[in-house]
Amino acid sequence: MRVFFDKKSLRKFLEEKRSTGKTISLVPTMGCLHDGHISLVRRARGMSGIVVVSIFVNPIQFGPNEDLDRYPRDLGSDLRLLDREGADAVFCPNSEEMYPEKQLCFVEVKDLQDRLCGLFRPGHFKGVCTVVAKLFNIVQPDFAHFGEKDFQQLVILRKMVKDLDFPIKIVPSPIVRDSDNLALSSRNLYLTPDERKIALNLSKELFWIKERIESGNYDIKILEDSKERLKEEGIKLDYLQAVNTENLVEKSDLTPPVAVLVAGWIGKVRLIDNIIVES
Ligand code: PAJ
Repeated sequence: MRVFFDKKSLRKFLEEKRSTGKTISLVPTMGCLHDGHISLVRRARGMSGIVVVSIFVNPIQFGPNEDLDRYPRDLGSDLRLLDREGADAVFCPNSEEMYPEKQLCFVEVKDLQDRLCGLFRPGHFKGVCTVVAKLFNIVQPDFAHFGEKDFQQLVILRKMVKDLDFPIKIVPSPIVRDSDNLALSSRNLYLTPDERKIALNLSKELFWIKERIESGNYDIKILEDSKERLKEEGIKLDYLQAVNTENLVEKSDLTPPVAVLVAGWIGKVRLIDNIIVES
């Protein structure tokens, strides 16, 4: 496995590989890898001759009062994991390498970026789209892998690829959960044992809602019951919303296909989760 800190040498390495006719998969991450990230790497490994994983805590997708400085980082452990998974290349640039001068060009996906998390994290998806577009241009992958854990991010990046004609196929992967159903997230590391117990209510409610929908109850009021219980458990909700899976427009009932997305605060930790019910 090769580790690259600069774009130029990564590009050179990939040019050679590309000329042998191998397809390239890119898995963009912010590191502190867990089994959710690894599931994307395995999917990539199964699809492509060359697997590139990027590790970059992208400053421009964090708001001024967010957790950029304390975002967990462990490059040594990440590289060991990726080596074991058979990644071919890891790209771990620093901020100067990614943003050598003041960035004046940004990618925005209007409308989709302003819903759900976008309302609570202004500028977040603009930062995500900009860095992912840069990574796409640096790596020029055939496939790019993203988790359904960040469902809004996935929908936005699909639209970016479509609207800007990136010749890249977006490959989604399902949410990986712990044995107690908590969706894996690098931010789970911030939770105290007591907070972790509280956090379990997020997936508990989502699964309860999923069960109701699958048994044919499409009444949107179900969400109000869940909101009430989450509040009682001490979770401060940013939103619990049912949306159209393609355009993220809020639905007035729970008829499938539907995505139910939640974002909430457990103490100082903001977690997101979702369930998707297909028709
Ligand atoms: P990060 O939070 O590190 O996530 C990297 C990828 O792993 C994303 O596609 C995310 O959806 C996926 N992922 C995280 N937890 C998962 C889980 N429990 N199950 C399945 N997939 C999971 O998302 C980002 O980084 C950044 O915004 C990035 C796209 C790298 C741009 O900076």
